[in-house]
Amino acid sequence: MKVLILGIDGYLGWALALRLVKKGHEVMGIDNFYTRKAVSEIGSDSALPILSMQDRIRAVEEVFGAKIGFVEGDVTNYELIRKVVDKYRPDTIVHFAEQRSAPYSMMDVEHAKYTMINNLTSTLNVIYAVKEVNKKIHILKMGTLGEYGYPAFRIPEDAFVEAVIQGVKDRIVVPKWAGSWYHWSKVFDSYILLYANRLWGLTITDFHQGPVYGTRTSDIVTEELFTRFDIDDVWGTVINRFCAEAVVGHPLTVYGSGLQKKGFTSLEDTITALTALIENPPEDGEFRTVHHYREIKTLNEMAELVKRAAKEVLGYEPEIVHLPNPRVEPEEDLLYEPEKKVLPKLGIYRLTRAMEDEVVIMLKDLKPYADRIRKMQALFRPRVKWRD
Ligand SMILES: NC(=O)c1ccc[n+]([C@@H]2O[C@H](COP(=O)([O-])OP(=O)(O)OC[C@H]3O[C@@H](n4cnc5c(N)ncnc54)[C@H](O)[C@@H]3O)[C@@H](O)[C@H]2O)c1
Repeated sequence: MKVLILGIDGYLGWALALRLVKKGHEVMGIDNFYTRKAVSEIGSDSALPILSMQDRIRAVEEVFGAKIGFVEGDVTNYELIRKVVDKYRPDTIVHFAEQRSAPYSMMDVEHAKYTMINNLTSTLNVIYAVKEVNKKIHILKMGTLGEYGYPAFRIPEDAFVEAVIQGVKDRIVVPKWAGSWYHWSKVFDSYILLYANRLWGLTITDFHQGPVYGTRTSDIVTEELFTRFDIDDVWGTVINRFCAEAVVGHPLTVYGSGLQKKGFTSLEDTITALTALIENPPEDGEFRTVHHYREIKTLNEMAELVKRAAKEVLGYEPEIVHLPNPRVEPEEDLLYEPEKKVLPKLGIYRLTRAMEDEVVIMLKDLKPYADRIRKMQALFRPRVKWRD
């Protein structure tokens, strides 16, 4: 298949590109290197060193004997995206090209606006490019489970749900209540996609994934193929940050009570799921909502798990500290088990590895880069506060 990956230089984009070329698919990517720039803007860097795109592509050719096509450019530039889609004629467009940090979006009005404008404009450009070039192209859009918040009902894996409102039954769009400007941008993305499906019959997978963790997939067989790995308070997701903290003997920084629950998935299992969704697209004109997470855990459970793994790999147990929660989020008595139907039907439900075992691999991968991580350790403590 021909796959166009928007945001190919990112954590997920690069790992997906490797899996697809390894499986014999043709891959083309676009990126404006925004994440590289924005991470350095706050004084941070990927904990694992990553090559320039030119060198990445060369490394892929050496390891897999396959060529990845690349255009440096901004997906918010409509002419650019339309031209690339027209010339390349992909079967699937995977849309990752968004500002993806909740804390970054909460810094101030400029960062909030950047997040909204970048994310919504890129999604609008993708749907218009597909409508203009070929309505049959499958759009696989990366959203997040964070769009829903923590409702009292079990979150259905569907765009619509039956509800009784003031005594009247109707089918309504599944209610959402996001917890940052970033997450709201994803909610609005979902509405844009659903409307484009109703309006023009576009074929869309709206993929809701929980936080991803892990340093590698089975395709990352040399250091030259590393994907980025962020660890600071703004760009690092929670388990990735805990592991980096453990490697340099820094306390594991849990926000608030640590009873917050989320559905986590390893990078390996995320890439397997994305590949299955690309290889098994929806019917022409279908709007497919997909939920993906593998293990539901509280922050406290994960901190304990990293602490135990650190003892095994590093020979010491890092302290666990609780910091005032900079976010505004529910912390206790959470019912959290979003429905999952689509991926299990495609045979995607087994864990490649339990989180305990994945964390051991992560600590082993990060250990040689302890000096590099130490230089960034001042960035572990949260600086962006939702209410200040
Ligand atoms: N990593 C996670 O835990 C996670 C979980 C759920 C959803 N997601 C979503 O998955 C997608 C990919 O996440 P990631 O972790 O790989 O993030 P990332 O920041 O590492 O990758 C995103 C890539 O898109 C590029 N990009 C951003 N805006 C662009 C634009 N306008 N034009 C061209 N390129 C642009 C960035 O430079 C970056 O390389 C994001 O949309 C994110 O919101 C990620």
